[in-house]
Amino acid sequence: MLTRRGGWELSSSASFCAALLLLHVAVVLPGVVSSQSLKNSNLTATSPWLTLSGGTPLVIAKGGFSGLFPDSSSFSYKFSYVAGSPDTISWCDVRLTKDGNGVCLPDIVLDNCTNIKLVYPEGKMNYIVNGVPTSGWFSVDYDIQNLSQVSLAQAILSRSNKFDASLFPILTVEDLVAQVKPAKLWLNIQHDIFYRQLNLDMRRYLLYLSKHDIPSYVSSPEVGFLSSIVGRFRTSKTKLIFRFLGEDTIEPSTNVTYGSLLKNLTFVKTFASGILIPKYYIWPVTSSGYLESYTSVVMDAHREGLEVFASEFANDALFSYNYSYDPLAEVLSFIDNGIFSVDGVVTDFPITASEAIGCYSHINMSNSDHGKPLIISHNGASGVYPDCTDLSYQQAITDGADYIDCPVQVTKDGILICMSSINLMEVTTVTTSPFSSLLSVIPEIHDGPGIFTFNLTWEEIQKNLKPAISNPEIQYNIYRNPLYKNDGNFMSLGDFLAFGRDKDLSGILISIENAAFLAEKLGYSVTDGVMRALQDSGYSNQTGQEVMILSKNSSVLIKFRQQTKYELVYMVDESISDMVNSSIMDIKQFAHMIAISKQSVYPVSQQFITGQTKLVQKLQSAGFAVYVYLFRNEFVSQPWDFLSDPTVEINMYVQGAAVDGIITEYPGTAAAYRRNTCSKLGDQAPSYMSPVPIGGLLQIMDPQALPPTLAPMPSLHAADVVEPPLPAVSPKPSSFGAGEESGLPPSQPSYGRHLVASIFLSLVMLCGSLLV
Ligand SMILES: *[C@@H]1O[C@H](CO)[C@@H](O)[C@H](O)[C@H]1NC(C)=O
Ligand SMILES: *[C@@H]1O[C@H](CO)[C@@H](O)[C@H](O)[C@H]1NC(C)=O
Ligand SMILES: *[C@@H]1O[C@H](CO)[C@@H](O)[C@H](O)[C@H]1NC(C)=O
Ligand SMILES: *[C@@H]1O[C@H](CO)[C@@H](O)[C@H](O)[C@H]1NC(C)=O
Ligand SMILES: *[C@@H]1O[C@H](CO)[C@@H](O)[C@H](O)[C@H]1NC(C)=O
Ligand SMILES: *[C@@H]1O[C@H](CO)[C@@H](O)[C@H](O)[C@H]1NC(C)=O
Ligand SMILES: *[C@@H]1O[C@H](CO)[C@@H](O)[C@H](O)[C@H]1NC(C)=O
Ligand SMILES: *[C@@H]1O[C@H](CO)[C@@H](O)[C@H](O)[C@H]1NC(C)=O
Ligand SMILES: *[C@@H]1O[C@H](CO)[C@@H](O)[C@H](O)[C@H]1NC(C)=O
Ligand SMILES: *[C@@H]1O[C@H](CO)[C@@H](O)[C@H](O)[C@H]1NC(C)=O
Ligand SMILES: *[C@@H]1O[C@H](CO)[C@@H](O)[C@H](O)[C@H]1NC(C)=O
Repeated sequence: MLTRRGGWELSSSASFCAALLLLHVAVVLPGVVSSQSLKNSNLTATSPWLTLSGGTPLVIAKGGFSGLFPDSSSFSYKFSYVAGSPDTISWCDVRLTKDGNGVCLPDIVLDNCTNIKLVYPEGKMNYIVNGVPTSGWFSVDYDIQNLSQVSLAQAILSRSNKFDASLFPILTVEDLVAQVKPAKLWLNIQHDIFYRQLNLDMRRYLLYLSKHDIPSYVSSPEVGFLSSIVGRFRTSKTKLIFRFLGEDTIEPSTNVTYGSLLKNLTFVKTFASGILIPKYYIWPVTSSGYLESYTSVVMDAHREGLEVFASEFANDALFSYNYSYDPLAEVLSFIDNGIFSVDGVVTDFPITASEAIGCYSHINMSNSDHGKPLIISHNGASGVYPDCTDLSYQQAITDGADYIDCPVQVTKDGILICMSSINLMEVTTVTTSPFSSLLSVIPEIHDGPGIFTFNLTWEEIQKNLKPAISNPEIQYNIYRNPLYKNDGNFMSLGDFLAFGRDKDLSGILISIENAAFLAEKLGYSVTDGVMRALQDSGYSNQTGQEVMILSKNSSVLIKFRQQTKYELVYMVDESISDMVNSSIMDIKQFAHMIAISKQSVYPVSQQFITGQTKLVQKLQSAGFAVYVYLFRNEFVSQPWDFLSDPTVEINMYVQGAAVDGIITEYPGTAAAYRRNTCSKLGDQAPSYMSPVPIGGLLQIMDPQALPPTLAPMPSLHAADVVEPPLPAVSPKPSSFGAGEESGLPPSQPSYGRHLVASIFLSLVMLCGSLLV
C-alpha cells in the first residue's frame, strides 16, 4: 500500500488503486476546491471559475508526468495520479502500427522517444508527412509484436534519463486503460492523412476502440478527421476538440492557415466542442521573452460555446520573464486572472497545475500577515532586479518578504554600502567604467583578480557604475529579467536603513563578511560601523522592527553579543550532515538562529534526494530557530524530486522539515506559498501539496541507474565554530573613519556549486528551441 511519506510506489496496480482511493478521500475536503464536488453539484451560478461551464479547470497530463518520466510510459501516467490530483486526465498521442494498433507515443518519429534505433538499426525510413519529407523510425513499419522489443526513453535532453533504465514498454491505448485506470482519457490524433496514404484507418480504429474504452476527449489538428467522426460521436460522451498548430501552419484538409481558422470559430463549432491552443495564443510573448497583454481568444471561443484548452506548459522550459521562473504563477495567469479562465491546461508537470487550481486560486491577496515560515530576502528580490538595489528591495517588500537583507561592504572613503559581493566586477558594470584598470589580487578575500568596493569611493561608485543583475544559472543559459539587468540604484547602509524603517516589514537583516581582513589590512571596523549606522538610524532604540545580524564568523557575532541586543544568526557555510553537541553549545553562546544550506536538510546525489538529516530537529530542540538558504525559482537549482516546481521545494522544507524561515531570491514565490489555502490542512492536504517522499525517486529507480553513494557530508565540530577574536584595527594610512576589527572570507558564496551539470549538457540547445 502506498503511503506518501514512505515512498512513491508505482509498480503494483493493486497498491496503486488503493493509493488512488486514499488520495481521493484526501482531496474531497472542506476548503479544498475539488472538481469532483463541483461536477456533482450544480454550482454554476456560484462558481468562482470563469470557465465555459463554471466548472473547475481540468489538468491534462501530456503523456503522464512526462516532465520526469519517459513520455507515455506506465510510470509516467501513474505518477501523474500519485503526485497530482485524482481528477487528472491522461493524454495519449495515438500512433498506428502496421497492424492497425493504436499506441501512445509523443512523436511520429520514434528516434528520440524510444530506443528503437538500437533494436532495429536498419529501420530508418523516409516518408512525406503533411507535405514534409521526414526521415526516421516510424510506428507504421512495425507490428505490435515488433514494438514489444522497444522501450520508451526520455526524449528531452534537459530531463533526467535515469528512468530509461527501467525499460518501460510502449503502451497501446488499451494497455494504458487497463494498467493505469485513468480518471479520464484524452486521445490526441494527428496525421490521419498520412496514415490514410498507408492504408491505415484512424477513424475505424477510434470507433472500434470507443466500443470498450470511451475517451472523454479526442483532439486533432485536422478538420477533415474531426468532420468525419463528428456524426458518430454526436450522442456519445466523447468531446471533440480542434487543435490549433502554429498560426502560419496550413491546415491540410482546408488548405488555410490555423490563424485564419481562428477567425472562423463558428465554423469550428460545427465539428468540435472545444479548441486546444498553444498558450501563446492567449498570452503572446515578445521575441525578448516578455508577456504582451492577453488576446480575446478565450472570450471569443466561450462566446461561441467552445471550451478552450491551453497547451505547452512545462516547468523546465523557459517561459516568460514576467513569471519570474515560477511555473505556478504562469498557470494562475490562465485560470485565475479575474477576466477569463481556460477550461483546462495540457502540461508535462501536472502537479503544478493541480496546486494552482486546488490551493492557489481565488486567494484574498490583501491578506499579508507575516507568519511562518519567515521569509528573508537574499540581496533583495534578486531574482527579479539587480542585487541590493532600491528596485530589488522594493520588490521584496511588495512580494511579501518579512526581512530584507543588506550584505555590507565598505568603500574607499569608509562608507558602508549594501553590495552582494566585495568584488564590484561580479555585481556592477565596473569593467566598462573608468575604473576598469583598478584590478588587484587579494587572495584573503577573493580568488583571482577583482576590483573591490574599498578601491572606489561611494561617490565614484554611484556616479560611474550601474548595478548588474546576478545570473547564477548562466551556465545553463538561464538569465534573469534582462530588460532590467542594469536598473536600480545602489544603496548605502544608511539609505537601506532609512528605506526599511517605514515599510511593512518584520525587520531587517545585515550580513557581515571579511571583518577580520578589513580590520587588519584596511584599519576599518565593520562591526563598529554597522552598530553606529543602526544607532544613527534609530534602529537601536525602536521596537517596531527587529534587527538580525548574520555572519559565518563567530567572532563577529560575539562582538555584537557583547555590545548589542540584536538577533544573531550564525550561518554554516558548508553542507553538513550533523553538528556535534559541543559545537551546538558553542553556538548557543553567541547566536539565536542558525542558517544552514538546503542540502544540510535533504542531502542530494546527482540531483536526487538521498535522505533527510536530523539537523533541523536537533537545532530546534536546542532552542535555535533554523533558517535554510538558498531558494531560487530556476528549475536547475532544485533536485529532481521537487519536480521543477519551486513551490514543491518550499513545501518540502516547511511541511516536511518544519524549518522556521527560508532565505530566498524570489520572496514572491515564498509569500504566495504562505497564502495558499491547503497548507493549513496538514496531513489532510491534497497529495499535490503534501511533502514528497524522501528519497522516493531513488526507490523507484532501476538499481542500474542509481547515482553513486556519496561519502557522507561532514559534521560540524566545535573547532569549526570557534574563531580567534577579531583583530584590533591596525592604524593604516587610509581615509577611513576609525574602528577596529575583523572578519570573514570570500564574498558571494557559490551556492549553486553542488549541482550536477552533466545531465544539462544540452540545455543550451534546448533553451534555444523552447524560448518562444
Ligand atoms: C443547473 O444549472 C443549469 C445552468 O445554469 C440550469 O439550467 C439548471 O436548471 C440547474 N439545475 C439545477 C438542478 O439547479
Ligand atoms: C532527436 O535528438 C537530436 C539531438 O539529439 C535532434 O537533433 C533531433 O532533432 C531529435 N529528433 C526529433 C524528432 O526530435
Ligand atoms: C516484425 O515481426 C514480424 C512477425 O510478426 C516479422 O516478420 C518481421 O520481420 C518483424 N520486423 C522486424 C523489423 O523485425
Ligand atoms: C492548397 O493551396 C495551394 C496553394 O494555394 C494549392 O497549390 C493547392 O492545390 C491547394 N490544395 C488543395 C487541396 O486545395
Ligand atoms: C468559415 O469557414 C467556412 C468553411 O470553410 C467558410 O465557408 C466560411 O466562408 C468561413 N467564414 C468566414 C467568415 O471566413
Ligand atoms: C511583462 O513585463 C514587461 C516588462 O516589465 C511589462 O512591460 C509588461 O507589461 C508585462 N506584461 C504583462 C502582461 O504584465
Ligand atoms: C480580504 O482580507 C482582508 C484582510 O484580512 C479583509 O478585510 C477583506 O474583507 C477580505 N476580502 C474578501 C473578499 O474576503
Ligand atoms: C585596492 O585597495 C587595496 C587596499 O587599500 C590596495 O592594497 C590595493 O592596491 C588597491 N588596488 C588598486 C588597484 O588600487
Ligand atoms: C534613541 O534613543 C536615544 C536615547 O534613548 C535618543 O537620544 C535618540 O534620539 C533616539 N534615536 C532615535 C532615532 O529616535
Ligand atoms: C547530544 O545531545 C542530545 C540532546 O541533549 C542527547 O540526546 C545526545 O545523547 C547527545 N549526544 C552526545 C553524543 O552526547
Ligand atoms: C573569522 O574571524 C577571525 C578573526 O576574528 C579570523 O582569524 C578568521 O580567519 C575568520 N574565519 C573565517 C573562516 O574567515
